[in-house]
Amino acid sequence: MLSFFLPLLGRFHPILVHLPIGILVFAVILIFLSKKQDKTFLPAIQLAFLLGSIGGVLACISGFLQYQFEGFSLDTVQFHLIFGILTTAAGFFFYRKSKKTNDPSTLKWSSTALIGALLFTGHLGGTITHGEGYFTEVMPEDLQSLFGGVASSAAPLTLPEHGWEELAYYEEVVQPILNSNCQSCHNPRNKKGGLDLSSKEALLKGGENGPVIDFHQFFKSNLIARMELPRDHEDHMPPREKRQPKKEELQLLRLWLENEASFDLKLGAAKPEMKILEPFFQREEIAFYPTINLPSVAEDSLSKLRKKGFYVEPIAQGSPLLKVSCINFPDFKDSDWHNLEMIAQWIAYLDLSGTQLSDSILEEIADAPYLTVLKLNRTPIQGIYLEQLSKLPHLKLIYLNETNVTLSNTLSLASSKSIQKVFAYNTSIANEIEADSKSRLPFALEVYQFDLPMMATDTIVY
Ligand code: HEC
Repeated sequence: MLSFFLPLLGRFHPILVHLPIGILVFAVILIFLSKKQDKTFLPAIQLAFLLGSIGGVLACISGFLQYQFEGFSLDTVQFHLIFGILTTAAGFFFYRKSKKTNDPSTLKWSSTALIGALLFTGHLGGTITHGEGYFTEVMPEDLQSLFGGVASSAAPLTLPEHGWEELAYYEEVVQPILNSNCQSCHNPRNKKGGLDLSSKEALLKGGENGPVIDFHQFFKSNLIARMELPRDHEDHMPPREKRQPKKEELQLLRLWLENEASFDLKLGAAKPEMKILEPFFQREEIAFYPTINLPSVAEDSLSKLRKKGFYVEPIAQGSPLLKVSCINFPDFKDSDWHNLEMIAQWIAYLDLSGTQLSDSILEEIADAPYLTVLKLNRTPIQGIYLEQLSKLPHLKLIYLNETNVTLSNTLSLASSKSIQKVFAYNTSIANEIEADSKSRLPFALEVYQFDLPMMATDTIVY
């Protein structure tokens, strides 16, 4: 019934520790304020040592409970625990001394050691909660190395989108992954577990429990095995309170080990799946959609549209611009546009494919100032009013696949400064187009004609 009480008390440890720290420091301050043979503060000094030491006992008990119930390993807490107990014992020791003396000023220098012990214990405790490098992290690099910290973690892995095949798998992929995830604790100056992961030679040397790469059973190598342990497992690497690698980083390490941890391998030769490389490609971050300063449309208005069958969502989290689709509204006709008129200002992506609209809707659509992507596939339009769209300043992609658009109507978009591509697969344009007319256009015109191969089943009559 009261089983929660002990863990709860444990959680008070970070609060309770401040009692002995504050009170014992106060006792030492009073000692330093005492002149020779001056007993003015003696009763207060005695009381402060007593209360501070009792506070120390509470801190030790709650700390021990926290260690028991919160899954800390003894390795992590042992020094903090021992120094906590020693410091508390020292508090009682000074309490006794202060009871026996008539001249508190004689305790000046010995009691300073108590402050030292408090600081050291506190620091060990802080390291458990905040991790090593809590202080050094915020220092400039020169100072960091002075204090033995390693300039925290190296930059995360990035890969070029073109030519990644030629990268040296170990040097340009594996090592950067180790640098950004492990180096802070496994480097030549700070070898946790006796392990340095900052170079090929060090990696091959292994840690205090032997090699970390198993050259007989690569996938059982300690290097990866400890990363693949459940996060709350004591041996999990990096320690669970630290930033964890991406799952694709793990996959890249595993793939390298599966390729016999070769130091000469090229990334391309390991045939990685594109999806594990994807997150590391550096793309130019040119915003595709315009950034605007409009208030978002009220959720209420959006849900009304959804009830009518429109798909309406923001184009990205936090963006006021909207993506609208009629994929579940195949009966959409020109007259249904009035529903969208109110939000036309916000529409950046509009998909009216497969609906019953006619050419005149293009005039309405031209009132959506931020329209960037327009899809009109499989609609009956010929593109008579396409020219209207050329004045839209953000329109980049137009899809007119399987429609009746003609080349001359499409050419009327030529005055647009923003359009990048017009898709017109399976239209008559493919036949109309002359070799040179494509090169006269300021945008790419895709007119590939689908030529589905005839399959045997196509001719079977059921
Ligand atoms: C915050 C510090 C920290 C980080 C970051 C860290 N480790 Fe460790 N690692 C330790 C400590 C402490 C030990 C020793 C205690 C133990 O074995 O759990 C250790 C031990 C190991 C060992 C066992 C060495 C031996 O021979 O006993 C391996 C393997 C290991 N780490 C791999 C890694 C890998 C791989 C990464 C990066 C993905 C990593 N560690 C990141 C702190 C860290």
